[in-house]
Amino acid sequence: MFEAEGLKVYFSAGRSGLFARKYVHAVDGVSFLIREGEVFGLVGESGSGKTTIGRVLCRLTSPTSGTVSFEGKDITKLRGERLKRYRRQVQMIFQDPYESLNPYSTVVDAVTFPMRVQGLVDNRNQARRDCEELLDRVGLRRHDVMSKYPHELSGGERQRVSIARALAVRPRFIVADEPVSMLDISIQAGILNLMMDLKKEYGLTYMLITHDLRVTQYMSDRIAVMYLGKLVELAPGEELMKHQFHPYSQLLVSSAASFELGGERKETWSGKGEIPSAIDPPSGCRFHPRCPFRVEECDREEPKLRMIRPDHYLSCFNPQ
Ligand SMILES: Nc1ncnc2c1ncn2[C@@H]1O[C@H](COP(=O)(O)OP(=O)(O)OP(=O)(O)O)[C@@H](O)[C@H]1O
Ligand SMILES: [Mg+2]
Repeated sequence: MFEAEGLKVYFSAGRSGLFARKYVHAVDGVSFLIREGEVFGLVGESGSGKTTIGRVLCRLTSPTSGTVSFEGKDITKLRGERLKRYRRQVQMIFQDPYESLNPYSTVVDAVTFPMRVQGLVDNRNQARRDCEELLDRVGLRRHDVMSKYPHELSGGERQRVSIARALAVRPRFIVADEPVSMLDISIQAGILNLMMDLKKEYGLTYMLITHDLRVTQYMSDRIAVMYLGKLVELAPGEELMKHQFHPYSQLLVSSAASFELGGERKETWSGKGEIPSAIDPPSGCRFHPRCPFRVEECDREEPKLRMIRPDHYLSCFNPQ
């Protein structure tokens, strides 16, 4: 469905001298494929570039270089009517529905607006009926919420409204960026189950961005691990949870496990050290300053992502 090749996104970060410009290397040469119908999980710590990748797929951010194609067509070159049609197929759900919903729009306006912009409804009544059906579908009582404003809803209800709004244009692909991390743990499962039901019903494909491995593990067919703008490992979800070869993936999995084991970390190392800056990333492998298994070439050469088992990709000189 999607194919990204050598994707880079740099953001300007002022000047470091009279002439030299500084850049945040938010995404720095990432390639991946997303298959139709799958849940593609994207994990990694804060600032590793996950949201930026999601925004590029939704055409909310332009890449600095590299290509991204959707069903064989380069999305970075779409303009006008074709861009509008593309936007209908691809939607994003954000971490904080309170921020992504307009505080001055009622639920019915928020959900019907994209339908009207995309010309999917002939009149207000039809838009209203479609909205009512969508609200039912996402588990909200239509009459209770239709005319409410975002601040009159609970966090879980707001996220359900954002899901309804994303579905309003009948998309095929949804980027869900930390869809439950702002929500009370008791209602997280409800939202995730809803997303899985909708996926089946509407034949959706998801990119699921999260720093919580328990969420991706539960939802994802494949999991991609990012570290400081790079993809370090990519494998089927179950495989990655059992066999991680990159020290950073191991750190992620063991910290998730230590959560469940009540603070008892299974690994003997904790990946100490500050997260290096994305403005001036470390040479060679970006993880080498924090890596207890580093070998000589790690700070000189950049490891390439290569297949080490069927459907399992890794970029590391000294896999564990
Ligand atoms: N518009 C922007 N301008 C400048 N820098 C940006 C911009 N957007 C993101 N960045 C920087 O790019 C890097 C990657 O950000 P991104 O939001 O993609 O990370 P993330 O993995 O989603 O993190 P989090 O888990 O905290 O959401 C960060 O260093 C961030 O500060
Ligand atoms: Mg993010």
